[in-house]
Amino acid sequence: MTEAPKPQHPRVALITGITGQDGSYLAELLLSKNYHVVGIVRRNYHVVGIVRRTSVLYNTTRIDHLRKRIQLVYGDMTDGPSLASALTSALASTAPEGRLEIYNLAAQSHVAVSYEVPEYTMEVNALGVLKLLEAIRRLSLADRQRIRLYQAGTSEMFGDTAVRPQNESTPFQPVSPYAAAKVYAHQLVTLYRTAYGLHLVNGILFNHESPRRGANFVTMKTINAVKRHVTARDQGDPPPPPLELGNLNSQRDWGYAKEYVEGMWRMLQAENADDYVLATGQTHTVREFVTEAFRQAGFELEWSGEGVEERAVDQGGVERVRVSERYFRPTEVPYLLGDATKARKRLGWAPATTTLEGMVRVML
Ligand code: NAP
Ligand code: GDD
Repeated sequence: MTEAPKPQHPRVALITGITGQDGSYLAELLLSKNYHVVGIVRRNYHVVGIVRRTSVLYNTTRIDHLRKRIQLVYGDMTDGPSLASALTSALASTAPEGRLEIYNLAAQSHVAVSYEVPEYTMEVNALGVLKLLEAIRRLSLADRQRIRLYQAGTSEMFGDTAVRPQNESTPFQPVSPYAAAKVYAHQLVTLYRTAYGLHLVNGILFNHESPRRGANFVTMKTINAVKRHVTARDQGDPPPPPLELGNLNSQRDWGYAKEYVEGMWRMLQAENADDYVLATGQTHTVREFVTEAFRQAGFELEWSGEGVEERAVDQGGVERVRVSERYFRPTEVPYLLGDATKARKRLGWAPATTTLEGMVRVML
């Protein structure tokens, strides 16, 4: 019996990292624009209890609500053949005159973790991109011409720069394995664009957060702690242990992830392939973010001490935040402030959520 031909679509998106914060918002956006969405998922291993190790199919919490409307294929950024076959599968769903947009969002995305697993970070965030680009390069000319790719670059690439604010022409000075890998990927994308005439776009996105942010990034870690303190207060229980954080002085330009995936999409709609910064143009210290998050929950923090001795108590003298050496990084990006003028002028993209107060409200 011959198989019925698969339906073909004028617009298809292949998303690596679809189970992540950005991937889930992007999938929602593209579905709302009638794209056929294909996502690459990997098989994960989870520790259950103390000793039992079990495998799960893949992490789906952020995309469970979309499961029936998207196509998922197994793959891993460390496995070239799986990327090539995902590409073939997505192309098979694309109408001959249609377009396949690839959004490469998969990454070991935690900067602090990249010091612990630098080689793995490099394999996924740098060599994984090379594998994906090679899979594209080896396609027929007709297929290559139907493809556009977005690479998820980061403001971390600016590293220890003295330039303020940072834009597309600011030189990269990476100071972590994560950022070094992302710079490698950025430069490969530029190289493959020039050398092979592929339609490849580098996004350089400043920090963006949401209620779907991973729990070990500083904003979500803070929000979850605030919620624990609120619950204890409202139930009349003793206060939970203080929130323990590392460097409170670093400054970040925090935006709302849902608005940033719209920027990614716009980058791929532009006629010419180029690189774009997405940012709010506002920067705040980690301390300011924490203070605002506790404030919105009714705790007025007062800070004292310096370095690892620093702590914050509320209006009732209860300790709510303290500093722990454990969360400091070997090297730090001290100051990020983005200038997204090019994206505003060329793509008509501008974030609606730009204030610290607004960002905390979205997350709470
Ligand atoms: P995230 O929530 O950590 O999601 C990362 C995604 O990558 C997850 O779907 C994860 O799958 C997947 N992944 C990790 N290793 C993989 C591998 N070896 N093979 C296939 N998939 C793999 O990250 P995010 O915040 O959405 O960020 C998306 C991208 O933008 C990342 O590349 C990040 O580096 C970059 N970026 C983020 C920000 C930001 O502030 N959020 C700013 C600039 C750039 P599992 O669910 O299986 O773990
Ligand atoms: N995660 C974490 N945990 N960060 C802490 C903590 C803590 O307990 N205490 C202080 N920080 C500081 C970090 O040292 C850093 O200066 C800042 O808070 C932000 O840390 P993260 O939230 O982990 O984000 P990031 O800026 O390192 O990286 C994020 O943004 C990049 C874009 O600039 C990630 O999403 C990267 O994937 C992304 O590329």
